[in-house]
Amino acid sequence: MQAYLLHGGQGPAGLERCEQPEPTLGAHDVLVRVHAVALNHRDLTVANTPAARPPQVPCSDGAGVVIAVGAAVTRLQVGTRVMSSFFPLWLDGPPTPERTAIALGGRSPGMLAQCVALPDEAWVVVPDGLDDRQAATLPCAGVTAWSALFDADPARPGQSVLMLGTGGVSLWALQLGRAAGLQTIVTSSDDHKLERARQLGATATINYRTTPDWASAVRELTGGRGVDRVLETAGRETLAHSMAATRHGGTVAVIGGTSGWGGELDADAMIDRALRLQGVLVGSRTTAEALVRFVDAARIEPVIDRCFPFEQAREAYEYFATQRPFGKVVIDLA
Ligand SMILES: NC(=O)c1ccc[n+]([C@@H]2O[C@H](COP(=O)([O-])OP(=O)(O)OC[C@H]3O[C@@H](n4cnc5c(N)ncnc54)[C@H](OP(=O)(O)O)[C@@H]3O)[C@@H](O)[C@H]2O)c1
Repeated sequence: MQAYLLHGGQGPAGLERCEQPEPTLGAHDVLVRVHAVALNHRDLTVANTPAARPPQVPCSDGAGVVIAVGAAVTRLQVGTRVMSSFFPLWLDGPPTPERTAIALGGRSPGMLAQCVALPDEAWVVVPDGLDDRQAATLPCAGVTAWSALFDADPARPGQSVLMLGTGGVSLWALQLGRAAGLQTIVTSSDDHKLERARQLGATATINYRTTPDWASAVRELTGGRGVDRVLETAGRETLAHSMAATRHGGTVAVIGGTSGWGGELDADAMIDRALRLQGVLVGSRTTAEALVRFVDAARIEPVIDRCFPFEQAREAYEYFATQRPFGKVVIDLA
């Protein structure tokens, strides 16, 4: 079979397409023919980070169809459509070091291969309402957005939520929040993207480049109160502003660092306004299953910016890294 191996530290140029032996199947394993893989910010980080280990298959997010099952497998059968689970050992409950020890496409092999074998418990069944490309956009960005909105301290209809930028996690949160009856405020550096966010149902939008004090603009939009929740995906440049944009007793879901990792933690503001800062780490298979049910029931169509054929995986990475797409970048193996 064909697969990509990633030589870490070289960016997209570190992707090497090569012939690999088909995975061998243990008694509890399920072999999946991968039809689509979606890229995440993390895949660029992994590609740009030198790694001491031998090159390995990158990418956490993929979907396809079961083509063989081990002798002891009863949960899935040949023909079942499935997607990957970011942490294959985290089935349910809170995160633990054991459950999050393996993350696909990071320190462990991932999905950018024609066939992938993983234990049956590691796969999430995909409903007919989602095609393979759409399903591939869920495991990292979709599950993270769902966890930040609905896992601990779930958002309730009518509450307000702020998304920073229009990256993969933010767009998923916008679509989920909109379908769940939340007030959704979206920032972006690009007015054209803000227009598209409004078309997806954003209640209000702010250009964070032309309005550097966007936290005040968010407070104005919420009658001076601040939002109930921020999905803090941008990190270094934004954490302090996100806290300033949050209401008394509100939640800042700390997720990422598209502007650089870190950020200034204003402990006084946190205490004075009883803010809750909640770290988010993707989610379990049970969380992914809850997301899939909701997406199917609400008939949400994931936003896909562009698809590339398998042979052009490097171009897909380059495009994702340089073009600031609106929606997911997908690699098609079907
Ligand atoms: N903790 C977790 O479990 C978890 C899970 C998934 C992702 N993450 C992290 O969360 C972050 C988002 O991931 P992603 O895959 O959604 O990223 P992405 O798709 O690469 O997001 C890129 C977008 O970030 C926005 N951005 C950049 N600088 C910004 C700033 N200063 N203020 C506001 N927005 C800014 C830009 O939006 P505009 O073009 O609209 O300006 C850009 O298009 C990444 O750091 C990722 O590593 C963490």
